[in-house]
Amino acid sequence: MNRIPRLQWEPQFTMHDDVIDLQHKKLYMITNELIEKHESGSGDCYEFIKDLVDYASRHFHAEQLLMMKSQYPDMKWHLEEHEYFTNKIAGFIEDYKNNKENLGWDVLSFLREWIFFHTTGLDLKLGEHLMKTSLQNEKTRDE
Ligand SMILES: [Fe+2]
Ligand SMILES: [Fe+2]
Repeated sequence: MNRIPRLQWEPQFTMHDDVIDLQHKKLYMITNELIEKHESGSGDCYEFIKDLVDYASRHFHAEQLLMMKSQYPDMKWHLEEHEYFTNKIAGFIEDYKNNKENLGWDVLSFLREWIFFHTTGLDLKLGEHLMKTSLQNEKTRDE
């Protein structure tokens, strides 16, 4: 079986928001734990995949609030991506509950890839916007 590479947060992935950066690091950690659990072959992954879905949903909510507050123009597209992931993972959980042996390599690779490409893609666009808008806020405060 191919080993799934672990996620590692890098400083260039910063969102210019400490809370969101911490959440991304935690999301990476939970994903790595799930992969670890799966690869060790030691039993039930259900709690681990539930942790991931719960934490992702809290994180998506935090990002949504920031998008609303900063009037992010690409909010609709970004929220659709979050929704796509949420629905996909709900489907995996459903399948897993019905057939516990089958939390496959392809499912975990998908989760890992999606999280990596979202946090280093669309999220970074939001990060740039947050940086610009916070600079603007500082500027208006100075004036
Ligand atoms: Fe994110
Ligand atoms: Fe996001």
